[in-house]
Amino acid sequence: MSLTSGDQAAVLITGCSSGLGQACALDLAGRGIRVFAGVRKSEDAERLRRASEGRIEPLEFDVSDEASVRSAYAALDEAVGRRGLDGLVNNAGVLVPGPWELLSTDSVRRQFEVNIVGTHCVTRTMLPLIRRAVGRIVLMGSISGRVAPPFCGAYAASKHALEAMADSLRMELRDWKIAVSIVEPDSVGTVIWDKFEREIASLMRKRPNADSPAQCESGPAADEPLYREPLMRIRAASGRIRRSALPVSAVVRAVNHALLARRPRTRYAVGWRARLAVWASARLPSPVMDWFLLRSMGL
Ligand SMILES: NC(=O)c1ccc[n+]([C@@H]2O[C@H](COP(=O)([O-])OP(=O)(O)OC[C@H]3O[C@@H](n4cnc5c(N)ncnc54)[C@H](OP(=O)(O)O)[C@@H]3O)[C@@H](O)[C@H]2O)c1
Repeated sequence: MSLTSGDQAAVLITGCSSGLGQACALDLAGRGIRVFAGVRKSEDAERLRRASEGRIEPLEFDVSDEASVRSAYAALDEAVGRRGLDGLVNNAGVLVPGPWELLSTDSVRRQFEVNIVGTHCVTRTMLPLIRRAVGRIVLMGSISGRVAPPFCGAYAASKHALEAMADSLRMELRDWKIAVSIVEPDSVGTVIWDKFEREIASLMRKRPNADSPAQCESGPAADEPLYREPLMRIRAASGRIRRSALPVSAVVRAVNHALLARRPRTRYAVGWRARLAVWASARLPSPVMDWFLLRSMGL
């Protein structure tokens, strides 16, 4: 990526209202890169503009709404012109926790709508701009894309799917020299954990009738007390997870390497636990891995 003045490199990052997206946007803008930051609300756009003293250019769009992604493309095309887009960081994501049995079909759809369908929609739409600049694509995966902790199955399934997308996309774009990397962080201290705790608490409040048939479209399919105990333990464990979470700067470093290094890596497992999990999952038998993953969730 060229950083010479007068020829400013341009990067689009999705999900910049908070957490990792916001941190990456501020860091890259501080390095003189032209950052387009995807947000969904105008107040988040305004806040980012203020926090970056006008250096970040917010773009309002929802990754799961194709029409709004197309509008973002049109605005970007006009802004970057013939230079194109040097980098796309697909960071927007949601974590829908809960045991598979209590997840409604709608909530599983939402998990995949944002993390997979949205990532595909943004990537596919922006590719003409990325091709113009021979840019790079970064996917924000997770260590849950390599191992699947209990009670985070839908999230892990979406991040496993993202790993598959990263591998196939990387090979498909080889002829255009467009590098594709996936970042796989362990837990990071962001508001995603507040959202996680709220969702666990709301699952604990649900009291479906044990005798009713599975309500696939509208709600939990089982009697809530079935999972009350593990949900309580997971809620308690999330405090521990947060206390030992990585700082956002660790992920920012990995994203920067994927975008700026001469030889970007295909995968960035961020944090020692993430690297250990990758190593262990390839070597240890499933019952041993199950034991570790149950422990990691306080179970
Ligand atoms: N924090 C961790 O422990 C951790 C670990 C591994 C991987 N990750 C991944 O890192 C990414 C960022 O997570 P984070 O920790 O920074 O959490 P976060 O602060 O909750 O950020 C999530 C971002 O995604 C945006 N988003 C959600 N749905 C969207 C949609 N439909 N369209 C556009 N934007 C949408 C949110 O915008 P709104 O504010 O408008 O909802 C927010 O800006 C996610 O992909 C997550 O899976 C996080």
